[in-house]
Amino acid sequence: MKRIIIITGASSGMGAEFARQIYAKKTSVGAEMWLIAREDDKLAEFAATLTGQDIMVRTFAFDLCGVAGAERVKKLLDTESKHGKFVVDLLVNNAGFGTYGPFDETDPMREMAMIDLNCTALTGICGFVLPHMTRGGRIINVASLAAFLPLGNFAVYAATKSYVLSFSIALAAELKERGISVCALCPGSVSTNFANVASNGKRREVLHGRDPRKVVAHCLRASGRGRKIALWAPKWKVTAFMSRFIGRYIGARFTYLFNKRPH
Ligand SMILES: NC(=O)c1ccc[n+]([C@@H]2O[C@H](COP(=O)([O-])OP(=O)(O)OC[C@H]3O[C@@H](n4cnc5c(N)ncnc54)[C@H](OP(=O)(O)O)[C@@H]3O)[C@@H](O)[C@H]2O)c1
Repeated sequence: MKRIIIITGASSGMGAEFARQIYAKKTSVGAEMWLIAREDDKLAEFAATLTGQDIMVRTFAFDLCGVAGAERVKKLLDTESKHGKFVVDLLVNNAGFGTYGPFDETDPMREMAMIDLNCTALTGICGFVLPHMTRGGRIINVASLAAFLPLGNFAVYAATKSYVLSFSIALAAELKERGISVCALCPGSVSTNFANVASNGKRREVLHGRDPRKVVAHCLRASGRGRKIALWAPKWKVTAFMSRFIGRYIGARFTYLFNKRPH
């Protein structure tokens, strides 16, 4: 039966790295890979670099934001169903963005769009893909280290990633009997285009960003072993653990006062 791998936000950063590493795996041979992001040219240019394996790479350029975005994925799946049977082996819900700055200085439209992409679309895509998954299927939802505490100057973003983490763990618990694993990737700073987007171009690079290759490789190993959370760097593990003992308000207040972000 045809096997499909879906990666959202696959044109840059961690999504592109997921695509590269999954493409290179022997277990992906014979499967079809669907890469989704908005910028058509960038996506096509990136997809053209994936060569040498018997894997068909298909690109879909559209906005994944909100209900409409998730429904676009459903439409792809419905169309595919008309052409024969298939299963989705792996779903990587990676598309997402953040906004830097105190909430009352950010654009409410952008904050709502963030919730629409980071939470609504991710949830809908899981829901629409799950009927096409069978035992051994895997979901990776990209959360963040920001999921573990409310953060000042990053208020809505941290809240959306808390949602992703909470939802993913509950989904993992519900899908245990079906043999489908769910892993929430919770990275700290990773060198991608994230800061550029979050700061409206004021900060080009993610500060102290780690290598996305290592973060993604670790996540794929963790997900393969059925882990519910992927935390790569020891510092991130300590931060996640310590967050249990830090008051939520204290964490938010501290980051608001001492972790200013250009916006
Ligand atoms: N980098 C970090 O430090 C860090 C840390 C923790 C978590 N994360 C999370 O990691 C994930 C990937 O981000 P990244 O760091 O790799 O950033 P990135 O380099 O900016 O990549 C974001 C990807 O998402 C796509 N995308 C953005 N908005 C979209 C939309 N509305 N519809 C469809 N695709 C969309 C982008 O392509 P188009 O612009 O072409 O659509 C791009 O392919 C995000 O969920 C982010 O929150 C990042």
